[in-house]
Amino acid sequence: EKIPCFIFPDMNEGSYYAAKIIAQTIREKQQKGENCVLGLATGSTPKVLYNELVRMHKEEGLSFKNVITFNLDEYYPMEREAMQSYYNYMHRILFHHIDIQAKNIHIPNGELPKEQIKQHCIEYEKQIEEAGGIDLQILGIGNNGHIGFNEPGSSIHSKTRLTNLENSTRLANVYEFANISEVPRLAITMGLSTILKARKVILLAWGPAKAPVVQRAVEDHMSEQVPASLLQQHNDCIFILDSSAAAEL
Ligand code: GLP
Repeated sequence: EKIPCFIFPDMNEGSYYAAKIIAQTIREKQQKGENCVLGLATGSTPKVLYNELVRMHKEEGLSFKNVITFNLDEYYPMEREAMQSYYNYMHRILFHHIDIQAKNIHIPNGELPKEQIKQHCIEYEKQIEEAGGIDLQILGIGNNGHIGFNEPGSSIHSKTRLTNLENSTRLANVYEFANISEVPRLAITMGLSTILKARKVILLAWGPAKAPVVQRAVEDHMSEQVPASLLQQHNDCIFILDSSAAAEL
């Protein structure tokens, strides 16, 4: 099954399109008096999307009062207040600027001692279930095909867990750190089964560097060697691309 791809001239247009889908999902749920559960990604890819959601909140009255969020991942170990933490990223770029309730924000905790991580991951899965499951999951894609921090070889059955980062991933993210030795070797990530259970999935990819992996995820046979290719088995998944990320399709 080929994943439907929506191709835009640039990342701004693609991000606006994704923001409209999110806003519509939130408003539909509001009208029914229900919560809207969003799965959120970090990295450079969704920044324009989050800026657009902030604009919609400020200028169009889009409310996040009924929104519950679960972030995909966090480095381990990582202090919340560190510049590089995904906790910091999410608050700086999105949560500080909207009317989301603090109790509705969930991000894996990179501060816990190692012996508590297993239980934390079990609870994270339970919290997602108790919220009613994820309505809409936003994803980026790593150059090696990872989604969240599910590196190549991750099981399709994997759940939220502590995992190793590939050196290529650490190198891709070194721009956020002083040098490569500062980039954590571990991360807590939702699993592939966690992601695949979301009722709708939107993967975003911008720029020529992502073109080869987007091609493999969309057109190659499904393989745990390209985790994003497993999205082919999801019945409501789309890719939103700019023309350079779509160049090899
Ligand atoms: C990061 C994140 C992923 C993200 C991907 C792509 O390390 N853990 O959630 O989607 O790698 O990153 P970027 O958007 O910066 O290209």
